[in-house]
Amino acid sequence: MLVSAKEMLNKARQGKYAVGQFNINNLEWTKAILLTAQENNSPVILGVSEGAAKYMGGFDTVVGMVNGLLKGLNTTVPVALHIDHGSYDGAIKAMEAGFSSIMFDGSHYPFEENIAKTKEIVELAHSKGISVEAEVGSIGGEEDGVVGAGEVADPQECKAISELGIDFLAAGIGNIHGKYPENWTGLNFEVLGKINEATGDMPLVLHGGSGIPEEMIKEAISLGVAKINVNTECQVVFAEATRKYIEEGKDLQGKGFDPRKLLAPGVEAIQACVKEKMELFGSINQA
Ligand code: 13P
Repeated sequence: MLVSAKEMLNKARQGKYAVGQFNINNLEWTKAILLTAQENNSPVILGVSEGAAKYMGGFDTVVGMVNGLLKGLNTTVPVALHIDHGSYDGAIKAMEAGFSSIMFDGSHYPFEENIAKTKEIVELAHSKGISVEAEVGSIGGEEDGVVGAGEVADPQECKAISELGIDFLAAGIGNIHGKYPENWTGLNFEVLGKINEATGDMPLVLHGGSGIPEEMIKEAISLGVAKINVNTECQVVFAEATRKYIEEGKDLQGKGFDPRKLLAPGVEAIQACVKEKMELFGSINQA
């Protein structure tokens, strides 16, 4: 059964580790992540952008697929199904469809409007036991056609939004989605420290988790980060493994064209990537 992400993230924040949010794109992705979480006795959050949900045939398809897999794979570790960077309408539709957690990303609105809309979403979500992530200071890079400027959040704005009763907070600290450019200056720990002080025990969320060096991940966790989002790295290893299979001509041998064979190396690569992140984030055996 799907659970809200509130309890698992409060526990992570207290225990000084982070739970991974791994974005899903299809059945293979979802299965790979759920199997890895179960094998490693780790809580996990499945992230779904609105674009990915549309690709998979809509929120209902995603909820049906995930619930079916939880049953079919005998998954017993805590799993949250979370809309990633949800719009106001998208977050509401995801809740209606059965998502157990939502992100409302109002970071591109004027701050007062972000506050007002986040407040409405919190009331609705909490009446259904659904957890809420809010965002202050947009995350840079491109995700599903939405380009964020990569701001550094204002700790006072973080404090104001954290007081609305949200369950966890994404704050821009120089992190970006996708691959980090050569000249990236790293995470802004000074600001993260101030956000952490201003927001008390609020679990903080680090977006753009792909490609951040290990020491920076560990430092971020020590400063209150309890949820780390990873998408691009799984996509890259999946594509690499699939390319290798094709380049080695394996699809031309026997029944190598069978999608269950063709996609297997990519699935194994995702599993290895997810396990590595769970080890780094410290979520193994925390289910
Ligand atoms: P990456 O694609 O950079 O890992 O970022 C994922 C993310 O933050 C999803 O919200």
